[in-house]
Amino acid sequence: MFFDRFPKDFLWGASTSAHQVEGRNINDWTEFEQRSALSFAKNAENLGFFLDRFAKEAAKKENYISGLSANHIDNYEEDFYLANKIGLGSYRFSIEWSRIEPEEGKFDDKAIRYYKNIIRVLRTYQIEPFVTLWHWTLPVWFVAKGGFKKRKNDHYFLRYVEKIVTEFKDEVNYFITLNEPEIYSMNSYYRGLWPPQKKGLYNFTTVFNNLARIHNDSYKIIKNINSNLQVGIAKNNSYFEIGKDNFRNRTIKKFADYFWNDLFLKKISNHQDFIGLNYYFRNRIDGWFNKNRNPKTSDLGWDLYPQGIYNVLLDLKKYKKPIYITENGLADARDKHREWFLAETVKALAKALGKSVDVKGYFHWSLIDNFEWDKGFWPRFGLVEVDYKTQKRTMRKSGEYYGKIIAAHNRAKNRQSK
Ligand code: BGC
Repeated sequence: MFFDRFPKDFLWGASTSAHQVEGRNINDWTEFEQRSALSFAKNAENLGFFLDRFAKEAAKKENYISGLSANHIDNYEEDFYLANKIGLGSYRFSIEWSRIEPEEGKFDDKAIRYYKNIIRVLRTYQIEPFVTLWHWTLPVWFVAKGGFKKRKNDHYFLRYVEKIVTEFKDEVNYFITLNEPEIYSMNSYYRGLWPPQKKGLYNFTTVFNNLARIHNDSYKIIKNINSNLQVGIAKNNSYFEIGKDNFRNRTIKKFADYFWNDLFLKKISNHQDFIGLNYYFRNRIDGWFNKNRNPKTSDLGWDLYPQGIYNVLLDLKKYKKPIYITENGLADARDKHREWFLAETVKALAKALGKSVDVKGYFHWSLIDNFEWDKGFWPRFGLVEVDYKTQKRTMRKSGEYYGKIIAAHNRAKNRQSK
């Protein structure tokens, strides 16, 4: 039977991140949003991938200001009630450094209590928390000192890690130090798209290497506090598929696999207990990257090829570590593709498990609609829809469908134990 391939303790979950759902944050992104919202709104029309039906939303300045966002900070009980309704056994969220340490060296007890409450409510539903320590946003004071670009700033982040892990060591078993360090280095320090909008290869490699070192040091700190805690990162890997099988394409693929998929993992290979994989799309190489021929795309224009997760997983087997899919999903406001996407993903996971890849959990991105960084609010990734005007939550059909997948696995488990 299909579901018999999944381990009994396989974790079915969903993910969010603090800045994208909480609301009322004050960090480098909120400042960036204020600075850029108007020009983003003006440029919206020129962006090729925008589909007509989003043009109106994308042309509004408010689309780019996180503001109240999904007001998860006031609504988390309802959000976890819905998570439980789907049947989730785990939930990944991030702790917002700028809330915990709004001023250098001053930790906010109220913020710590808020995250403790989150975990308490999750535990009442028997939902296992996976805590991300950094999901891209930074305290303003830290950025003023040069952020992750300066090696001498490492100790600020490490002090925050020590504080959080000491506070939460009895409530949390899984910590993710960094979310997608390669995407951050690329967008914030190479392409100049995200704060602090720096460009160039030197900036990129400096930050990329700094983040690898910071992860390794964080790992040591966490293990020192309690060696049973499980630590990893969330790594964005793509399936690079070649079009024509020729020398040029094969060489580009080798390069892409090495630099994009493997390099960071190699740098931290002695300092992780599991690999967190964020998989979103295939990248087709034909003469160059992104030569997508697939007519099926998400609202963001991303290639919809859920099957590619199988190839990525098979490739990660060489690291001989347990794997959690820490993110996977699509922007699909009309909920047209999400059920199919989930079904294909689960099939691909079963196929990978059949090849003895040690996959231990799957977290869909995202539990609820949220603020999609420089694209703002219009892309809809949630299993649950959020009406940002009223903050009303509505379960999407695909959310119910995900619940059916989880229930089918539970039935298979019960059969096995009889
Ligand atoms: C990020 C999320 C983001 C998602 C969809 C991932 O790269 O970790 O924060 O919302 O992709 O773009």
